[in-house]
Amino acid sequence: VIEDVAQACGGEYGGQWLGTFGNAGCFSFGQYKILSSGEGGMVVTNDEMLATRVRSYHDTAACWRPQRYAVERMPGELFAGQNYRMSELHGAIASAQLVKLPKYLSRNRAFRSELMACLEPSAIAPLTVAPDNDARGDAGENVVLLAPSRQAAVDVQERLAESAKRISYHLGARRDWHVYQYWQHILNGSAVNRVGYPFSSYPMETLNYSVDACPKTLDVLDRAIFVHIPSLVGRMSPAAVWQTFAEAIHAS
Ligand SMILES: Cc1ncc(COP(=O)(O)O)c(C=O)c1O
Repeated sequence: VIEDVAQACGGEYGGQWLGTFGNAGCFSFGQYKILSSGEGGMVVTNDEMLATRVRSYHDTAACWRPQRYAVERMPGELFAGQNYRMSELHGAIASAQLVKLPKYLSRNRAFRSELMACLEPSAIAPLTVAPDNDARGDAGENVVLLAPSRQAAVDVQERLAESAKRISYHLGARRDWHVYQYWQHILNGSAVNRVGYPFSSYPMETLNYSVDACPKTLDVLDRAIFVHIPSLVGRMSPAAVWQTFAEAIHAS
């Protein structure tokens, strides 16, 4: 299991860091991430063989093994990697950002819990707050609201835009490159090479790569309104956020 924690750096579930549940956790430090160094990322694992393979993948000389000239210690240890390693400079920026992470997380978490504490659910009905499986461990980046339909979500977002109160930064119903339904190259299994790798490594019929592979996910995303916490901190009070939503919902 590879955990995608690109958007959840610092989050926890049941007191355990996200990224440490699977065999490996993949973090992204790209521009719009919780911890950003401009580009790059990190893989965490407690499996020594996996760690060696991950290093060899990003540094094609496979030179990070304890003895770089040794023959393969286990099948699969040596292979020609891709050399997409993060630069030293990006690493230095990420290290500096890491020091600031606890402060950043606690600031956003504090705002998020104040926001939840002052919510009167009837004021934003028929919108509801999406379930949160661990409010304490939540990284505090977003509160997700769910509308009863795609159209209702679009209407609320448009009214927020009309009132020039840009407190909702993302609407699931908008086309979003992060959502698999727009990935023609994946859905069609298009490869850069003639042999069709990596798609040819799997019998395509065993992979359900179609637009309707995940209807529940698409339904939830279509109705979701993401309220981006870091952009609100210091700019609006939690009560004013809900007041603005209530006005947008009830405007005729
Ligand atoms: C959930 C998720 N996974 C993976 C990625 C990819 O990260 P990177 O661009 O560092 O490869 C992103 C980037 O936006 C993401 O949001």
